[in-house]
Amino acid sequence: MASKQPEAKYSVDNGVAVITLSYPPLNALHPLLLRSLFDQLRRAHADPAVRAIVVTGANNNFCAGFDINQFQNPSAGSGGGIDNKINDAICEVLEGGLKPTVAAVQGVALGGGLEVAMGCNARVVAPGTKLGLPELQLGILPGFGGTQRLPRLVGLAKAAEMMLTSTPIKAEAGLKLGLVDALAPPEQLLSAAKAMALDIAEGRKPRMYSLTRTDKLPPLGEALAILDMARAETAKRARGLRHPQLCLNAIQAGIEAGGAGGLVAESKAFAEAASLDTHKALVHIFFAQRSTKKVKGVTDVPGLKPRPIRCVAVLGGGLMGSGIATALVLAGVDVILKEVNQGFLDAGMGRIKANLQSRVKKGAMSASAADAALGRVKGSLDYSDFGRADMVIEAVIEDIGLKQRIFADLEKVCRPDAILSTNTSTIDIDLVGAKMEGGGAKSAGRLLGAHFFSPAHVMPLLEIVKTSRTSPQALLDTLALSGRIKKTPVVVGNCTGFAVNRVFFPYTMSAVMLADLGMDPYRIDAAVAGKFGMPMGPFRLNDLVGSDIGLHVGANFVTSFSERVYVSRLIPLLNEVKRLGEKTGKGFYKFDAKTRKASPDPELAPLLAESRKAAGLVKEGAKPPALSDADILDFIFFPVVNEGCRVVSEGIVDKPADLDVASVMAMGFPPVKGGLIFWADLVGAPRIVARLRQFAALVPQHAGFFAPCDYLVQAAAAGRKLSAGVPPASKM
Ligand code: 3HC
Repeated sequence: MASKQPEAKYSVDNGVAVITLSYPPLNALHPLLLRSLFDQLRRAHADPAVRAIVVTGANNNFCAGFDINQFQNPSAGSGGGIDNKINDAICEVLEGGLKPTVAAVQGVALGGGLEVAMGCNARVVAPGTKLGLPELQLGILPGFGGTQRLPRLVGLAKAAEMMLTSTPIKAEAGLKLGLVDALAPPEQLLSAAKAMALDIAEGRKPRMYSLTRTDKLPPLGEALAILDMARAETAKRARGLRHPQLCLNAIQAGIEAGGAGGLVAESKAFAEAASLDTHKALVHIFFAQRSTKKVKGVTDVPGLKPRPIRCVAVLGGGLMGSGIATALVLAGVDVILKEVNQGFLDAGMGRIKANLQSRVKKGAMSASAADAALGRVKGSLDYSDFGRADMVIEAVIEDIGLKQRIFADLEKVCRPDAILSTNTSTIDIDLVGAKMEGGGAKSAGRLLGAHFFSPAHVMPLLEIVKTSRTSPQALLDTLALSGRIKKTPVVVGNCTGFAVNRVFFPYTMSAVMLADLGMDPYRIDAAVAGKFGMPMGPFRLNDLVGSDIGLHVGANFVTSFSERVYVSRLIPLLNEVKRLGEKTGKGFYKFDAKTRKASPDPELAPLLAESRKAAGLVKEGAKPPALSDADILDFIFFPVVNEGCRVVSEGIVDKPADLDVASVMAMGFPPVKGGLIFWADLVGAPRIVARLRQFAALVPQHAGFFAPCDYLVQAAAAGRKLSAGVPPASKM
């Protein structure tokens, strides 16, 4: 078995030293591994039997970069304690030491991994290997010379694009670009790299030094223009973020001062980026996203293994059902799509086909693969084939009576081991199963929620809702399915709205309250989307989802959380005049018939006036409160944090970080803020409590909406982090 110790192993074969990076699973560059790599390089240089050096990786991978765990290790210090002296020394020896070096690369070479490979004089790479510098996705920039070597190997524009988008390329593309010197299948990788290393040592192939090359760099004026364009584009896309600009600055310094000067600028820029909250937030999200798959009482049960899910029956071919079916067939799962009549079934099949064709158009899959995926769907108007299904996902309209009848039927027509799930976005799962045998008792273990987000084949999150009786086996199977269909799963408890929609309801309600207080909805949207960084503001979102849906779903919250909801006339008024949003061409915004572009609509004014009058939050003739954009953001997001704290304290999420992931992946909460609870800790619980109380005083008629929950108040009083979770022995 591979050793878990970070080490660089050493062997010599026919004049070539092979240094193997080894630290399962992906040979991340732990400081001990870097130290060991440096020592082995010195050993190879001192070894008279060695003429050339090959650096490779164990575990069928080269290296996934610097060990990200170090960024969270308090004893490592800022930036994971990266020791630039050692890193620069490693790359210097690799590139300019007496003996030439070749990297033999397979699996992944990312971040510091690719930087080590670029430090070598050549790279032999297995087909399909992922090569990239994704550091920006962690809020930092390449720190082992990547900002200098990549532009010199692939050209400035391509290098800037690879770094700014954090998107890796495949080995085949790397060969065309000049990042890869030769391709070799994994079984011949080492021998090909050794042969190339000897060719260089013996002068049959020129030795290349990427740090001093200039042949791929454009003339200075052109280079500066490329970087200016990248800056402008980044400023638009990455709204005010510092680390992408720091990365571009480091690249520019190297263009102006040469590679060696660029390395100095890079290490300064790296240190600055590593000190910013953005870096901490993005590293937190990196690990949080991976930890949602680990669920207490499910993934740690000895001997419990996921059962394969080969066939899923999807009930309902509407937007959600067809999206879910698309996600499933894309992963090679057979689907039975059931509808109530041929017309609906044809429409559902048509949607799946359109989803697949749009992927073909984007180049994400071939036409023949799309045909094969569509061939996995079997349409059905009855339950005759449901015995084949390992799992059912019900995705019909949010009608509790209908759902209850369906689940009573499903219990009879499905195999007793088939998982029965509902895609409801808000309804209590136990209620959905209440009409099954014994009030749901017989099938309780296999009943769960599988809540997808629209469009289901695109959105990355799957909320898996467990009741108090859902079996660990059913949860484990669904977790495994989520991995297969490339969704990040979050296992959540059963309540109205579960985790995501539950923290979302105050978001819309506080925005509507602000509108009733006299604020301009378009200004609110601009603050939320522009300043805060949500993909869109609450009113634009309402138009996307539909005012009718908003009203229907909102009613569940009004019933379940009556003491802390805000009910306005505004959305009902929009429904009454059929301003349902994008689908009717008008909602809060009006939509261009051709381009679907949203623009403010003066016709909204009378509806706003009527709603404000009905709300009576501001006395007639009195001025509305003067709120700054910062106030607006606090007014909207602090009630969301408050509800998030309730979700944490009630154990609806397994751990607070799960809510961070859910908020980022389903609400569009900016990942650079680390998710809802992580961000709340950056703001500080005491400030959030104080502001909520101020808002309660501003709108005393609805003080309950702002009342801080016990978890938040106690954390503020005790100086405890909200992300720490419920302290032991203090169930709230
Ligand atoms: N450091 C530490 N652990 C890492 C790691 C890294 N660089 N990259 C991956 N891992 C761990 C993951 O946390 C996970 O651990 P777990 O099993 O305990 O949850 C395990 O490796 C497998 O990773 P994934 O679950 O993500 O596996 P995938 O196959 O889905 O993805 C991957 C593999 C594409 C390599 C993905 O893990 C990834 O993107 N990793 C990060 C790559 C990266 O950003 N590298 C840059 C690091 S910073 C740097 O190098 C700075 C330098 O310039 C100075």
